[in-house]
Amino acid sequence: MFGFLKKNRKPTPFSSGAVKTVLHKDLDFTSTEQYKVLRTNLRFTLPEGVKCPIIGVTSSMRGEGKSTTAVNLSYVLAASGKKVLLIDGDMRIPSIAKKMDINGDYGLTNYLMKTELRPLDTLKTDVLDNWYIMPAGELPPNPSELIGSRRMGALLESMTEEFDYIIVDLPPVNIVSDAMAISGHITGLVVVVREGYTEKSEVERCFRQLKLSNVKVLGCVLNGAKNDGGAYGKYKKYKYYKYYRYYTSEDEDKKETEAK
Ligand SMILES: Nc1ncnc2c1ncn2[C@@H]1O[C@H](COP(=O)(O)OP(=O)(O)OP(=O)(O)O)[C@@H](O)[C@H]1O
Ligand SMILES: [Mg+2]
Repeated sequence: MFGFLKKNRKPTPFSSGAVKTVLHKDLDFTSTEQYKVLRTNLRFTLPEGVKCPIIGVTSSMRGEGKSTTAVNLSYVLAASGKKVLLIDGDMRIPSIAKKMDINGDYGLTNYLMKTELRPLDTLKTDVLDNWYIMPAGELPPNPSELIGSRRMGALLESMTEEFDYIIVDLPPVNIVSDAMAISGHITGLVVVVREGYTEKSEVERCFRQLKLSNVKVLGCVLNGAKNDGGAYGKYKKYKYYKYYRYYTSEDEDKKETEAK
């Protein structure tokens, strides 16, 4: 699995400033297209008949592009006319409010603790009328317990009445248990893997963990993929997909079977 990820490869930081990483701020054409591919592919991997899928976005380590993927995925879904809620479920190091230039002091923890409840319309973005964002809010002392709580389940359940899709940005699997804790309340997870950064052993550990916890993995996003050969050379046939690739878990199972 993930043979294209090199062992103990030194992390390469994303170049700062020059690269735009959020769609509504004019992401480049190739990457934009890849998020649309992700949107389409998700429709095939989601179970049929779910009125409002709840999709968690996670990865094995910090800094792989989970929050960027969560923002862009929720945006492309909203841009296709769906009513979408993006929740910052990383109640340890939240980043969605910052990425979106909105105030992050009020959000998920307020809805969970039912403090100062505000109408959902206050979560509407300035970007699209059907795109809503719930920041993490005040950071709680017990994020794993809170995200796996019945309260969280009930909140998500009530939100499914209002929305067509709910995307939840989560912390990394190999560091904290939040992504596993929420699994009973969501339809499935999208796992982000960053090329040239994530060590193969970390990705394997992440998938082992998810398998042990019986979490449904809807697919993987390969973030930061180059089209110049290199670590990605094995997958040259996908050269047109510059920054983002989407793999379903079935793809990976097939590759494993073929490799045997
Ligand atoms: N494909 C990309 N190209 C360039 N920069 C990227 C790309 N994806 C993410 N980044 C940048 O990398 C940094 C980390 O991304 P992001 O916050 O999405 O990661 P994360 O996995 O959510 O991190 P954390 O684990 O800390 O929550 C951000 O500055 C983001 O803008
Ligand atoms: Mg993040």
